[in-house]
Amino acid sequence: MSASAVAVVAPNFATAAARGAEDSTEEVDTSAIPIKLEVNGVSHHLRLDVRTSLLDTLRENLGLTGTKKGCDHGQCGACTVHVDGRRILSCLTLAASVREAVTTVEGLQREDGALHPMQQSFVDHDALQCGYCTPGQIMSAIACIHEGHAGSDAEIREYMSGNLCRCAAYPNIVAAIRQVKTALSSPSTKGAG
Ligand code: FES
Ligand code: FES
Repeated sequence: MSASAVAVVAPNFATAAARGAEDSTEEVDTSAIPIKLEVNGVSHHLRLDVRTSLLDTLRENLGLTGTKKGCDHGQCGACTVHVDGRRILSCLTLAASVREAVTTVEGLQREDGALHPMQQSFVDHDALQCGYCTPGQIMSAIACIHEGHAGSDAEIREYMSGNLCRCAAYPNIVAAIRQVKTALSSPSTKGAG
């Protein structure tokens, strides 16, 4: 390419580069959209940025701070809640994508104030130290049993492996889940859910 050709073409590249830079700084439309969420049996009508996670919605918009933010990247399990009875990571879930009922740890307590059997079992087995991971552990533990993945200690450990505990209360957590599983297997006992 001759020098004159470069001189002609180069400004075009510069213009394109400048246009690209302009594009990259264009404002993203973050306008809020209406969202309906049912949480712990209560319907909520909210207006949220479409990118808001379920975790932030629960904690920041609904004041349900029982669900914890650990990593915010899907790696620790602290944010586990139930959607339609299935455990999910609320930090990786957009609130706008949730259609089914959400249950958080606050929704486990019975109307008479009694703890859910899994909560009681965690207390009985001293299955926590700082307690930060505990709400997520409990939500996962309930689902673990309902999924049929609590047949042995090894299976419990495998299917609870997505819930990290920095305090290493793992043996006590397994014991707590085993107690609820055993109680459920007893003919005289009903319902962990
Ligand atoms: S906060 Fe969601 S997995 Fe860690
Ligand atoms: S009890 Fe402290 S992180 Fe699990």
